[in-house]
Amino acid sequence: MSDFFRGRRLRRSATIRRMVRETRVSVDALIYPMFVLPGSGGKEPIGSLPGQYRWTVDVLVEECRRLADLGIPAVLLFGIPEEKDARGSEASAAGGAVQRACAALKRALPELCVITDVCLCEYTSHGHCGIVSPDGEVCNDLTLHRLAEVAVSHAQAGADIIAPSDMMDGRVGAIRDALDAADFLNTPIMSYAAKYASAFYGPFREAAGSAPQFGDRRGYQLDPPNRREALRELAADADEGADILMVKPALAYLDIIADARAEFDVPIAAYHVSGEYSMLMAAAERGWLELERAVMEVLVAIKRAGADLILTYHAPDVAAWLARR
Ligand code: PBG
Repeated sequence: MSDFFRGRRLRRSATIRRMVRETRVSVDALIYPMFVLPGSGGKEPIGSLPGQYRWTVDVLVEECRRLADLGIPAVLLFGIPEEKDARGSEASAAGGAVQRACAALKRALPELCVITDVCLCEYTSHGHCGIVSPDGEVCNDLTLHRLAEVAVSHAQAGADIIAPSDMMDGRVGAIRDALDAADFLNTPIMSYAAKYASAFYGPFREAAGSAPQFGDRRGYQLDPPNRREALRELAADADEGADILMVKPALAYLDIIADARAEFDVPIAAYHVSGEYSMLMAAAERGWLELERAVMEVLVAIKRAGADLILTYHAPDVAAWLARR
């Protein structure tokens, strides 16, 4: 006889509900993205990302101390350069903001995992993720060499994981070869493998000043309607040696996260991106939804779809909420 009441009996008590939950969000899964400024002594609020800041290195280290105390295992660093140029020179400068932040964090908080975003768009005057030819095309192969230089400069500064976000073809292999040649055989790569040309990056581009000055990123990022193509991109990065595969954004791409989980045996990360954060913050500010419940529901959905790791601007709030549960 079918037992129609079985599920309901278990749902009646909060304690039993907690015991039989299939999916949990734990602080160990969280990676907090942060923007690093040149100079010292300050933090700048980011208008489109309420509650988020651009930090100078000294202030960033203090904030990371607080995050580590909350149990957050990892941060992802984006750099804001002093000056931009056509080849994004500052991206690989030994004295660049990200390189200085890596060194300072490894000194102050050796246990904190420092992940660095490798891309050129924050550093180029044209705002594209690669080297642009005179006719306005992004040149894939010329870009690979620059990305490898940036990755090695991050590893030299102490980065624990390298995260290329540019979506050029062959960049995971090029970065792996360059890291190995520079003796960083043990530095893992977390690749932004299935990265869609998404409207949800809007607030990030304000935060990083990285909106393209002409054209868009559709030539190198995935087209949102495509699902099989994401599997091809994931497979290419896996073959080239990516240690962790990332899907981005998260909420509108839960099917892609589930596909990635089913197909590959490496850890899967999902980036709950700037626009997803801003949407929830804006609605909560207006009193239209309860922030904590809505954020936890979204993050548990990302885990349920199959992500092991979640990159999210909500990480400090989530860590505090989890600590008092
Ligand atoms: C750089 C990069 C972007 C994001 C992460 N790395 C922007 C883009 O591709 O335009 C977006 C992150 C976010 O929206 O939170 N290539």
